[in-house]
Amino acid sequence: MSGGNRQVFSSVVESVAARTDPDIDVSNIHDDRRSSGSKASTSNSEDDSPHVPVLLDEVLSTFQGRPMRIFVDGTLGAGGHSAAVLTQHPNMQLLIGIDKDPVAHSIAQKRLEQAKSDTHSSVTLRHVLGDFRGMKGYLDQAEGGAAAGAVSAILLDLGMSSMQVDTAERGFSFAQDGPLDMRMGPSAVASAEEIVNSWSEADLGRIFREYGEERAWRRIASKIVEVREQKPIRTTLQLAAAIGFQGRSRRTTPRRPGTKQIHPATRVFQALRIAVNDELGALEMAIPDAIESLEPGGRLAIISFHSLEDRAVKWAFLRAAGRATPEEEEHGPRWQMAGLDGASGNRPAIGQILTKRPVLAQEQEAARNPRSRSAKLRVLEKL
Ligand SMILES: C[S@@+](CC[C@H](N)C(=O)[O-])C[C@H]1O[C@@H](n2cnc3c(N)ncnc32)[C@H](O)[C@@H]1O
Repeated sequence: MSGGNRQVFSSVVESVAARTDPDIDVSNIHDDRRSSGSKASTSNSEDDSPHVPVLLDEVLSTFQGRPMRIFVDGTLGAGGHSAAVLTQHPNMQLLIGIDKDPVAHSIAQKRLEQAKSDTHSSVTLRHVLGDFRGMKGYLDQAEGGAAAGAVSAILLDLGMSSMQVDTAERGFSFAQDGPLDMRMGPSAVASAEEIVNSWSEADLGRIFREYGEERAWRRIASKIVEVREQKPIRTTLQLAAAIGFQGRSRRTTPRRPGTKQIHPATRVFQALRIAVNDELGALEMAIPDAIESLEPGGRLAIISFHSLEDRAVKWAFLRAAGRATPEEEEHGPRWQMAGLDGASGNRPAIGQILTKRPVLAQEQEAARNPRSRSAKLRVLEKL
């Protein structure tokens, strides 16, 4: 990231950055002497949460009645899932919360301390400001390596938090104007603004096609290049206008049988966000390492929000279970998982898939929380 960009990012999160050193990967920021001073709340209450955890009951059922010594939340966010898992397992010894966004840690920290205090738990809380793709390294460092290969459960709840989407200055949403940023954390190599204004038309087209699954990728990439030649595209609404959609427009893509109506700019923004944060690269790297980090019987639960992520999870789990067909192996070169190569045929399965089909939100949750409508939960148990 350039110095200028780092500065912009820092100003958005300055109140948090002042308390969090981005160079420290593993830092125990739990302090028993500090009183959270927050109003009493049940750890999984939704009333005052800036982000409502999706499929919470389903995640809790996944871990219910299981030994839970060490829990790793790779996408801590506002800590809603973690606080609820801690409440469910107050005898837990170590909870490691990873998030690349410093804002998430500042919110989750209070929540987890509250859950710890409410349940009289003696759990050690560790916060890692970093990418979950480095999970194995963090675990090797944590507790003198005692956590490596001994984790009881891991949760990845992918994508953005409501705090990120709802903060205009973070630039994730075309529903409000803001700088075209989209970085989840300071480690991202480029902002959306840099990508939109400097990548070649071919590279822009590629991400709109691959990450946005946008059929009009060619036209949109060409339009962006045409507009930026006149004037750089700096804000979310400028981008929406450049590609021919006004941010607050009610226009949606035509409804086709079996498809959801979505705002036309959604796919372009999704593609940029995935590229900025290398979301699929992180997932590809993390799944084999996460499985390796589990103890036998440990569970890996992953919630995804779009088909590319879900496909990556599904195929990685099939490989781990030794059940990927040669066709699936062949058609999935993008999802070759180094740690799982050869799982089918050449070596025994290392996991068992517990979700034959992905678990979806119940009607009530879908009505209450629109984010949950595209959520899919898959679970693997380490053998
Ligand atoms: C959907 S939110 C998680 C919400 C959380 N489960 C809760 O209950 O509040 C996803 C979070 O994961 C973080 N994130 C996404 N990709 C990440 C990655 N590769 N490494 C670390 N954190 C990541 C985002 O910054 C965001 O805070």
